[in-house]
Amino acid sequence: MITVIGSLNMDLVTRVKVMPRVGETLIGKDYMQIPGGKGANQADAIARLGARVKMIGLVGDDGFGNDLIQSMTNDGVDVSNIKKLKDSTTGIALIMVNDEGNNSIVVIPGANFELTPEHIDDCIEAIKESDILVTQLETPVDTVRYALKKAKKLEKYTILNPAPAAMLDDELISNIDLLTPNETELEVLSGVKIEKESDILVGARVLMDKGVKELIVTMGDKGCLYANDRENKVYPAYRVEPVDTTAAGDSFTGGIAVALSEGKSMEEAIKFATKVGALTVTKEGAQSSLPTREEVEKFKYI
Ligand code: RIB
Repeated sequence: MITVIGSLNMDLVTRVKVMPRVGETLIGKDYMQIPGGKGANQADAIARLGARVKMIGLVGDDGFGNDLIQSMTNDGVDVSNIKKLKDSTTGIALIMVNDEGNNSIVVIPGANFELTPEHIDDCIEAIKESDILVTQLETPVDTVRYALKKAKKLEKYTILNPAPAAMLDDELISNIDLLTPNETELEVLSGVKIEKESDILVGARVLMDKGVKELIVTMGDKGCLYANDRENKVYPAYRVEPVDTTAAGDSFTGGIAVALSEGKSMEEAIKFATKVGALTVTKEGAQSSLPTREEVEKFKYI
């Protein structure tokens, strides 16, 4: 089993031809409310790919919170550790997607930023029952640090998707088995300017020296780079027609967790997750775009 600790957001999405400039007003095409939030997307991806998953997180006691819990339940996520906070609001993400499928996102965290180490203690049974803990940075860093430390004490495999990018202290970093940053996040975490592929390895080495065991650095349509202290390898991306890249990084991390929980090798896990991420880009929205196991198995690529 896999436990995901993290954020739940209702995504308020519109499409624009190009992103607005500062001071500019644009007319958007369409408006959609789509379940999202990096933590919830990862949990939902894991469930759709056929693994057992429990989500630990917070929503407000409002309509968006109810909708998010309901849609995750429908997808097979165990939501018994998602709590509703009386005096808070559910997280919201304001998302614009342009004609190339790229996005700009502003997150208003609401209840997500009220997740404390006490909540983690209240839900510790979920972590105890799991083999893998997956988390990200849309909840307070103190809580993420505490959860990773607890999970490592319980000898669990820990995966941190460090999004959105933030500086992390050495104690937190030392409790990560697998880190899945994109190039920008790697730059922030390692302090190494990433301009060419060899810089990725330098950045990865900085973090491995602090205790991270393995890294997968996602590079969009260039694929991803895997590194541990003995080897490194680039895995190509599949070529797809991009509709919306939202949640591609989330579903990639979910795919890795699922494959590893099934005992697959890291190489097999990366190839599987690369298909999951590619399929996510071909559909609109966050949880609305996450593929099922069947879709991944039938995936025909160019
Ligand atoms: O990674 C995509 C997610 O980022 C969106 O679903 C949005 O909620 C933000 O958290």
